[in-house]
Amino acid sequence: MKKNYYNFLDLGNQPLANFYIKKKNLKKNEKKYRLKIRFDKESKLVSITKTFSSKTMFNNEYPYRSAMSKTMKNSFLKLSKEIKEKIKPKKILEIGSNDGSFIKNFNKDMTIGIEPCANVEKITKNKRFNTYPNYWNVSLANKILKKHGKVDLIYSANTISHIKDLDDVFKAIKIILSLNGTLIIEDPSLLECLRNNAYDQFYNEHIYVFSYLSINNLVKKYGLEVYRVDNLEIHGGSIRYFIKSKEKKQKIEKSVINQKMKEIKFKLNSKISYYNFAQRVKKSKELLIKLFKNCKKEEKKIIGYGATAKSTTVLNYCGIGKDYIDYFLDTTRDKQNKYTPGTKILIKKYSIKQMKNVDYVFLGAWNFKKEILLKEKKFIKSGGKFIIHTPQPKVL
Ligand code: TMP
Repeated sequence: MKKNYYNFLDLGNQPLANFYIKKKNLKKNEKKYRLKIRFDKESKLVSITKTFSSKTMFNNEYPYRSAMSKTMKNSFLKLSKEIKEKIKPKKILEIGSNDGSFIKNFNKDMTIGIEPCANVEKITKNKRFNTYPNYWNVSLANKILKKHGKVDLIYSANTISHIKDLDDVFKAIKIILSLNGTLIIEDPSLLECLRNNAYDQFYNEHIYVFSYLSINNLVKKYGLEVYRVDNLEIHGGSIRYFIKSKEKKQKIEKSVINQKMKEIKFKLNSKISYYNFAQRVKKSKELLIKLFKNCKKEEKKIIGYGATAKSTTVLNYCGIGKDYIDYFLDTTRDKQNKYTPGTKILIKKYSIKQMKNVDYVFLGAWNFKKEILLKEKKFIKSGGKFIIHTPQPKVL
């Protein structure tokens, strides 16, 4: 039988990306898995081959907070304004509401947040938002339907790509979304990932990296269609898909055709693009190692900035650890005083003082490059330099 998928990239043995290590656990064995990436010829879905249960990845120790970045907060605010002016929903449900950075832009009585990581969900619950510390699935959708009725807008940013059972996700959406409702999904763009050699979009939480082509194939199975596509700079290039039921009379906007053409032109529908990408990733690894080695030869002090889940993939794939990076700085409290997964580099609380006498800063949070370079103007002016690995490893 002819197989309809291809494994095109092997990123080696990796730890779970958001599992920052406490000092007392440094000597314990870390869970590792083989990170390989697959392209499905039929559905056009690109996914990792080894997945973990949601309970393993999203629990009450989850460190990620949307509010840690101005870029994210501004993006949510801008979208909220547009939703209020143009879509005018009466009831909104957010799948993966995190710390409430999106729903806080609306009246409490018109929003429902779903956030399975209880430590994060607590933040909105304490502010009296309607939030549920549960995984999004058919049984939860039925429970919410009984209590709140249908909703006319569902928003989900950087969450659907984390859920393995997409069939359950969309069945649940169909249960709760009114026929005239709008579904807005936002996730990293496969096209931008490939264009920028951003192989660190792949880690255990990012089960899928979607393209328009794969999202369109997926949603049509549930009587839905994409009617608008926005390309965003968020997270190194994301796509916001505006989706409606097929029955709803609403024009398919030009942006949809444009995105489809761009993806076909880049050959996202054929395996050649993925094999070429894999070659570029190997080259990127060689160049990054060379760059770090050269800096160390010159006895330069290097630190990391933004201990992201993405940087877990880069550091472990390239074998860059404590020999090269003295410590990381991060603004997220739950990451501070812990160690990076796999490479065990100390993460310190961000402060300008910690950047004194530093020559090079590896930008783990490259997806917030603009925001961070602006914030660190003084460091750059005084001769400090940033190292970035995408689109090509280089010193900025
Ligand atoms: P993310 O790429 O998974 O969104 O994570 C971004 C990480 O970078 C998060 O831990 C917060 C951190 N960060 C800083 O430390 N300083 C900053 O200025 C920004 C924007 C992010």
